[in-house]
Amino acid sequence: MLSNRLLLSFHAVSVGLVAASAALTVDENDFTPINELRDLVHRVGSVGLRLPGSDVHNELVDWVNTSLHDIPGLEVQGSKYDLDVWEPKEGMNLSEAGTLCIQSDGKCHNIPIVGAIPFTLPTNDSALTGPLIYVPFNQSISSVDVRGKVILRDLLPLKVPYPYLLKDSHYITPDLAAQINGTYERPYLSTPADDLIAAGRGGAAGLISAFDIPRKTLEGYYDPHFGQHYLIPGVYLGSEQYYMLRDACRYGHAASLKISADTGRKYTRELFATLPGRSKETIIIGSHTDGATWVQENGVAGLLTLAKYFAAQPIASPARAKTLKFAFTSGHLTYSRDGSIPYAKKLDQEYDSGNLALVIILEHLGARELLPSAASNGQYGRVLNFTGNSEATLWSVGPTRLVIDAVTTAVKNRMLDGMGVTPGNPPKNTSQIPFYASQGGIGTTYHNYLLPTTSIVSGPWSLWAPSFGEAAIDFARLRDQLLAVADVVVGLASDSKDEIAGGVYRIPPDA
Ligand SMILES: *[C@@H]1O[C@H](CO)[C@@H](O)[C@H](O)[C@H]1NC(C)=O
Ligand SMILES: *[C@@H]1O[C@H](CO)[C@@H](O)[C@H](O)[C@H]1NC(C)=O
Ligand SMILES: *[C@@H]1O[C@H](CO)[C@@H](O)[C@H](O)[C@H]1NC(C)=O
Ligand SMILES: *[C@@H]1O[C@H](CO)[C@@H](O)[C@H](O)[C@H]1NC(C)=O
Ligand SMILES: *[C@@H]1O[C@H](CO)[C@@H](O)[C@H](O)[C@H]1NC(C)=O
Ligand SMILES: *[C@@H]1O[C@H](CO)[C@@H](O)[C@H](O)[C@H]1NC(C)=O
Ligand SMILES: *[C@@H]1O[C@H](CO)[C@@H](O)[C@H](O)[C@H]1NC(C)=O
Repeated sequence: MLSNRLLLSFHAVSVGLVAASAALTVDENDFTPINELRDLVHRVGSVGLRLPGSDVHNELVDWVNTSLHDIPGLEVQGSKYDLDVWEPKEGMNLSEAGTLCIQSDGKCHNIPIVGAIPFTLPTNDSALTGPLIYVPFNQSISSVDVRGKVILRDLLPLKVPYPYLLKDSHYITPDLAAQINGTYERPYLSTPADDLIAAGRGGAAGLISAFDIPRKTLEGYYDPHFGQHYLIPGVYLGSEQYYMLRDACRYGHAASLKISADTGRKYTRELFATLPGRSKETIIIGSHTDGATWVQENGVAGLLTLAKYFAAQPIASPARAKTLKFAFTSGHLTYSRDGSIPYAKKLDQEYDSGNLALVIILEHLGARELLPSAASNGQYGRVLNFTGNSEATLWSVGPTRLVIDAVTTAVKNRMLDGMGVTPGNPPKNTSQIPFYASQGGIGTTYHNYLLPTTSIVSGPWSLWAPSFGEAAIDFARLRDQLLAVADVVVGLASDSKDEIAGGVYRIPPDA
């Protein structure tokens, strides 16, 4: 008891002293160097698609587990749950799992494609065939008789004004603020999910969803990721094959679609690593281990880096004031069964009597901006190029003053770019709780269970397109983002759970 009280008073004094100085900022010399960080991200990204519960994913979880065991002081726990999966047939990648051919002159002519659309109907070694029909973007599929037909449909990314993302922001870095009158166009905002549902309801034989971007650029594109299993086969098309397909529609040719995939039930594993601090009050730092590219999900490498940094700090230091729990969830690529959902629910049930102070979620770190522009030589469609800028990244913070301040300070001190410190999005709606429904990624789940949550997430063109590989990421930027996260943890060292909640996370609210 006495030693406890001593420890507590020591804590109060030491924190009081340090808080006044600049020592609260993490020393970047103590932090994993860029080349080691690149190696970690390489281990995650270079193995290709990591579908939850797949062999590749299991091997990654094993590697994370081993890496965590190599960090002294961490207590690692595992858990697993089952979910309905959709996987390309053994030995095939997503691109090979779909085929398209057009019937003419008694033959079926193979057309190169971007790949299978995930979760579309496996055709079991045969093909589904039907006359081609083009349904323009401004016409709803449900208003057309598509029975037995293969639909060609443009996939045009939704464009939103930047304020849709950044309205009411607490702070926007100057480079991103300069774009505020522009529009934000990213393919994750408009998947073919609605088209697949409407086409399935209408009894179509299949769907071809056409990007206006070259096939190679998007090869193996993985989305939608709701985990909804569609009733028809579907493939993505690249820009080079677009006119050929439009002509085939005009001439009334038939198309055959083949999807080589397996569905079934699988277990997926999750890992939770606890680093005890001086207090039982806990900050959870989370991301997911399943993923599709180097961007999605490099938060895994981020968590390992942070775990290593904090575990190496002296227990008496501000860095170790609170207990840290690193949560490696799964199921994001099947996200109606995302592991963050039951986890957030459990945290919510325990919140009032528990020790949870804050949830920090990290996704899609360090991304470089890619934007489309018109293809040259009068070719159809657009090409993607890196702009040299940082990808617009949201650092959402729930309505908790101390965290908003800590995040804003960290973003400024680390001179991050492309960053908006926002209350969430879309714009405020006071008819619902929370007022800002989304934090962009899995942070949304914790935020909607009214847990104090802050999350970093971006949605670049490279998010679901594996072809960019390592080039999708600026590792120096990724490291600076992680340093800023560490700054936030240290910056909140002297603030209790209740102070962090600030009365907001109680019903009825104090203020
Ligand atoms: C993690 O690795 C340890 C040591 O090899 C092993 O005992 C444990 O079962 C593993 N945990 C999980 C969840 O894979
Ligand atoms: C392929 O087999 C599965 C499982 O039996 C079935 O649900 C599905 O409808 C089949 N696909 C086609 C195109 O017949
Ligand atoms: C769709 O757009 C085309 C070209 O802009 C136009 O000719 C057509 O009338 C539109 N159709 C509908 C249903 O709005
Ligand atoms: C955005 O547009 C408004 C209104 O035209 C203008 O006042 C403002 O300077 C513009 N901001 C930027 C960053 O271009
Ligand atoms: C899929 O496999 C094919 C054949 O091995 C290869 O050419 C292609 O690059 C792979 N695509 C992806 C996205 O991995
Ligand atoms: C943009 O990307 C296209 C397609 O990859 C490439 O041909 C072109 O050279 C790039 N343009 C610039 C300015 O880098
Ligand atoms: C605001 O939230 C209410 C309740 O969820 C919903 O009915 C309404 O459509 C929302 N308004 C907007 C503009 O999204």
